[in-house]
Amino acid sequence: MGRNNSMACYIADMTHDDATPTATENTAATDIHGEIPPALIAKADAVLDWRWEQTPIAGHTWPLAVAADPDAMLIDACKRQDNGETGVIDPFWAATWRAASGLDQFLETQQLDGQSVLELGCGTGHAGISAALRGARVILTDGVEDPLHLVRMSSHAIADRCEIRRLRFGIDRLDQTFPIILGSDVTYLRQLWPELEQCLMDHLAPGGVVLLSDPYRIIANEFREWIGKRPWSYTEHKIEMKDDPEHPIRVMELRRG
Ligand SMILES: C[S@@+](CC[C@H](N)C(=O)[O-])C[C@H]1O[C@@H](n2cnc3c(N)ncnc32)[C@H](O)[C@@H]1O
Repeated sequence: MGRNNSMACYIADMTHDDATPTATENTAATDIHGEIPPALIAKADAVLDWRWEQTPIAGHTWPLAVAADPDAMLIDACKRQDNGETGVIDPFWAATWRAASGLDQFLETQQLDGQSVLELGCGTGHAGISAALRGARVILTDGVEDPLHLVRMSSHAIADRCEIRRLRFGIDRLDQTFPIILGSDVTYLRQLWPELEQCLMDHLAPGGVVLLSDPYRIIANEFREWIGKRPWSYTEHKIEMKDDPEHPIRVMELRRG
């Protein structure tokens, strides 16, 4: 599959719309989050155009700070790479993916109150915020700094339960382990798998569980085959989605075998 085809495929999976911010959205964001510190807003403003998006999370309507135009950001990155520019990082964090909604839904079945949770590749932070709203203490991480500015705003109302850190798979290491690790749509690139697995081994507490969601991507099927040959036990969950029942979300449950 060509580079542009694969980008188109990712763009087609997005759940965001292109609505511009409205006064109602911003009022609701203040209602939930209170006054966001101007320094946080200034940092986000310096990096990208963003807006509040009312997002169903853990049974709440939660104002999530998202990129204003993720399509344009992805297409721009794609064009720059096609023109030979090196070092351009795909801004896949710029959208909130359906896999995050599926993982959010699955978390309803888990006992999270008081648990310590790590989210990898959090993007806009949907899954980690879901865990925090369900009572967990969560460290939300991404390999890219830009989305973390948005996540700091989106978790402002529950900042006592959320810590936001940069963590690159296989490179950075936190000095603690976690009984629960979450990852929504982080298996989409074959090259990432060894670093992702290293990160899981570095951070999973003994007896802990890893929950990885994806929209039944073909590449994630290959990940399932790959991880199945590694020292992990594997269980799969199918999450029916109300927004599009024909396209459920898969949650892969991994435990050290
Ligand atoms: C498809 S997006 C999913 C974002 C978010 N979890 C969601 O479901 O909306 C993949 C995420 O993985 C992050 N990522 C990619 N490579 C990474 C790496 N090597 N280390 C840490 N995060 C990485 C990206 O920045 C991006 O936020």
